[in-house]
Amino acid sequence: MPAILNDQKRAAIAEKLADIKAIQTLIIDNEQQFLNQCSNDDLRNRLEDMLEDDHKNLDIVETAITQYGVQSEPKTTVQSMITTVKDTLAGSELSLYEKLSQHELLKHGQVVSGLVVHKAAQVVGKDVEAALAPLHTVNFENRAHQEQLKGMLEYLGTLELTGQEPQQGLWGRVQDAIAAATGIVGSAATHASGSTAVDVMDLIFMDHQKAKTLISEIRSANTVEQGNVLFGQLYKDLLVHSKAEEAVVYPVVRPFYGSDNTQELYNEQTAMETLLDDLRAMPALDDLFMAKLKQLKAMVGDHTRQEESTMFAAMRKHLSPSDRQQLGVRFKESKQTLQTQI
Ligand SMILES: [Fe+2]
Ligand SMILES: [Fe+2]
Repeated sequence: MPAILNDQKRAAIAEKLADIKAIQTLIIDNEQQFLNQCSNDDLRNRLEDMLEDDHKNLDIVETAITQYGVQSEPKTTVQSMITTVKDTLAGSELSLYEKLSQHELLKHGQVVSGLVVHKAAQVVGKDVEAALAPLHTVNFENRAHQEQLKGMLEYLGTLELTGQEPQQGLWGRVQDAIAAATGIVGSAATHASGSTAVDVMDLIFMDHQKAKTLISEIRSANTVEQGNVLFGQLYKDLLVHSKAEEAVVYPVVRPFYGSDNTQELYNEQTAMETLLDDLRAMPALDDLFMAKLKQLKAMVGDHTRQEESTMFAAMRKHLSPSDRQQLGVRFKESKQTLQTQI
């Protein structure tokens, strides 16, 4: 009886989504609690950024559940796990390092659940895949958060063991974070299509993740020199990305995404470029630079969320997978040309 089987699969996915939502809420509570306990500015900045992402991601999870159309309660085992974690973290016996280790495991679990839901959606049907597509963003951000948490753990752990801050290999950490955030997209892309041509949406995603990672690394850079190097990369990456979107992607999506929506994306990118030029003229890391960088972070966050939610939804609806792969090839070529010019 395939219909019944299908219903069971759908109900099972609904339960998994409810688990993800419940754990996302726990993650937010934890981060709020860590912020109350932590006096180190660098760690606080990172935690604040993460908390902000996690609030937005909870909204995305709720939206995906509504789009999916089947509400469920979390599994009882997940509910009792959440109670246990809450009790453990509320106590004062554990150090911040130990609490963050626990938290990193939760993030890991969210990433795996997100991937499982994505794979299950592919098995059950196109409608499920479409409803759950926004969860991609949540998943990639959680993956990047995991890397950041590892960086925080290295810092706190070294401090605990030696009384000194680690000689943070900044570039090593940045590379790890970027590789983790983009690698997961890359592998999902190749597995899904079975060919080497990558869907343009995956390429855009990877660029967004890299830019966000760079911004958060600049925000926690230790020296002006590090700040300059990282900002130089961000400046070039963002400019190349937006110019390539304007040359290759926006003209294709305009007819079905709508003139107003598409124009909004163009306008936002113009504003973003102005801000990037302002930042370039300033000494990295001084107060005004940091204030403007915060504006850029918010701007990039809003813009990429719009692209990844409504623009991607329209692209999934109106472009075939092979159209999107061809667009991916053109997007990549356009970026290559721009990279040599900027
Ligand atoms: Fe864009
Ligand atoms: Fe973009």
